[in-house]
Amino acid sequence: MELRIRTAVPDDAETVHDIYGAYVDSEHITFTEKNPDVSEYREKIRKTLKKYPFYIAEDENGKVLGYIYGAPLRPHDAYKWNVESTIVLAPDAPRRQGIATALYSRFMEKLSEQGYRYVYAVIVDTNDASIALHDSLGFKEVGHFYNAGYKRGKWKGIVWMQKPLGNAGDEPKEPLPFLE
Ligand SMILES: CC(C)(COP(=O)(O)OP(=O)(O)OC[C@H]1O[C@@H](n2cnc3c(N)ncnc32)[C@H](O)[C@@H]1OP(=O)(O)O)[C@@H](O)C(=O)NCCC(=O)NCCS
Repeated sequence: MELRIRTAVPDDAETVHDIYGAYVDSEHITFTEKNPDVSEYREKIRKTLKKYPFYIAEDENGKVLGYIYGAPLRPHDAYKWNVESTIVLAPDAPRRQGIATALYSRFMEKLSEQGYRYVYAVIVDTNDASIALHDSLGFKEVGHFYNAGYKRGKWKGIVWMQKPLGNAGDEPKEPLPFLE
């Protein structure tokens, strides 16, 4: 399989909606209860691309295999060098073939160029595959919120994992907008 990574466009909204929708019933992948509609995803892609990468992985036939995007960690200005990531593979995309690793490496390379300092993943504590992925990428656990959410009759905790982007230490410059 040939893997291609490209920047998302608003017309990817329906595919992103369908991929995410496949996990909304799961309490160990997301706390979302209702998949937003396609127009909300369209707006999310547009808004994200002003500041952060939103990348799509696809195979040689253009079939979307997964995606990754960034979001602000917290609203206050002082947090603006931090990025929260979301990564999701299509339910039928092959696992353990390096798709998530390829998406993440492109994503983190771009974030570093833009001047961001840290990436954070917020993961349900029973999502072993995601925790293992982030471990393998050098993320470290920086917090465990027990029983943080209640979904489908179960209390679930979340693990916060953090990775520095390698440009910490000096006076921060304003992060650059996302430009391809
Ligand atoms: C988690 C997810 C993104 C991983 O994608 P992937 O393309 O299979 O991951 P990679 O092939 O890049 O894996 C890289 C490394 O992560 C670890 N890893 C990934 N999935 C794993 C699993 N199921 N079990 C154990 N280790 C795993 C391994 O160390 C792996 O390297 P290896 O295969 O050489 O041993 C994918 O399973 C997925 O989309 N799951 C559903 C959605 C989800 O949970 N998203 C994250 C929400 S926080």
